[in-house]
Amino acid sequence: MTEPAERITKARAHDRLVGGGVGILDLDRLRLETAGDHVAVEASMPLMVGDLDRDRYVGCLRRVYGIVAAWEEWSASSSPEWMHSLLGNRQRRGLLERDLAWFGVVQLDEARPAMPELKDDASRLGAMYVMEGSTLGGRLIARHVERVLGLSAGVGDAYFCGHNQQTGTLWKEFCGVLQARVPDRETDRVILAAKTMFQVFGSWMQLAAK
Ligand code: HEM
Repeated sequence: MTEPAERITKARAHDRLVGGGVGILDLDRLRLETAGDHVAVEASMPLMVGDLDRDRYVGCLRRVYGIVAAWEEWSASSSPEWMHSLLGNRQRRGLLERDLAWFGVVQLDEARPAMPELKDDASRLGAMYVMEGSTLGGRLIARHVERVLGLSAGVGDAYFCGHNQQTGTLWKEFCGVLQARVPDRETDRVILAAKTMFQVFGSWMQLAAK
């Protein structure tokens, strides 16, 4: 059995490796305080209905494309170097392009929502929490659209299949980085950035639907 002192030394060594947090960010508070924002964003993406048809589904993919492209363009141009591999392993714009091409859409919209200002790691990771968390519900959506639209897994719904079997592992890894990089006292900043990102996502989906 590991002695407490040894565990603390190991945890601190791990903290130094992943960036050195002081106190653990409160993930449960983040979840709880953004639960209402999740409900709102879910409503902006009405895919989980029995009478979903291809046109509505493709319309939704086209709108999601604008925001995913905006996020990945921000990642490429403005994220700090330490985030590059974290973000690079999770890109999904190509999956959306594949899905849209499968439905015959090759002319991709160039309109993008404005990204919020993300000045520090707490805010960047708060925004990433939203984009990355969407992979969790995505798998549920994938099973649904496969059934309702008669799609084969990963063909036309590759974006929602997302990281596939890697989803849980990548999510755990992301939560680990979030907790290690952001000290507990900055939880408010993460929550604010997550709320703003949910808002940007939801408004874009609604605006683009008009
Ligand atoms: C119809 C649309 C959606 C459905 C049905 C849905 C469903 C879900 C479900 C079931 C989970 C929990 C999964 C788990 O714990 O394994 C989840 C988590 C999450 N979803 Fe969604 N979702 C949808 C859209 C979105 C969108 C568009 C976003 C982002 C803009 C989003 C962000 C998140 C986040 C951040 C979490 C993680 C919460 C946490 O555990 O900390 N979701 N979603």
